[in-house]
Amino acid sequence: MNRHLILMGYMGSGKSSLGVALSYRMKRCLIDTDKWIEQREGLTVNELFARYGEEYFREAETQCLRELLAEKTPRVVALGGGTPLREENRALMKELGFCVYLKARPETIYERLRGDDTRPLLQCGDPGARIREMMALRDPVYTGAADYIVEVDHGRTPLLVNQIEEAYRNETSGD
Ligand code: S3P
Repeated sequence: MNRHLILMGYMGSGKSSLGVALSYRMKRCLIDTDKWIEQREGLTVNELFARYGEEYFREAETQCLRELLAEKTPRVVALGGGTPLREENRALMKELGFCVYLKARPETIYERLRGDDTRPLLQCGDPGARIREMMALRDPVYTGAADYIVEVDHGRTPLLVNQIEEAYRNETSGD
């Protein structure tokens, strides 16, 4: 069975940075789906949203997951924050491997993303309110899709890496 280690969670929850740390620790390649899409399309996420709209980007995310099914070497995969919202994507994620929800509080995300202009969905008058609303809607979706949940507000990267790696090994040791 394919057992990729899949990181999901809201924007700014640390999927990309923990993904890098876990890929070093586990000696596995990291696939960061936002970067993958940006490279393939030759445009940034902002540009893709502006030029083709959000649905186009969402379709590209689903396509990434479909292609990952063919990847037989286990990878660390950092998803975009919105990927688990599609039901088809959640089904694909289940098939692909062990899904970890990096759970953060809205205050943490607000602090981390203050001044960030790379997230099109947060370019609005009141990003704090937008973050709270989106996180409230998404939390049950992430929770439902998760094999494991880790709170990231106060955890330092090496400790979070240990925790996630151990959970992954426990879960997949019988495979
Ligand atoms: C999005 C998250 C972003 C990126 C896009 C949409 C979302 O990825 O895919 O801006 O809907 O949460 P990160 O979670 O890596 O910021």
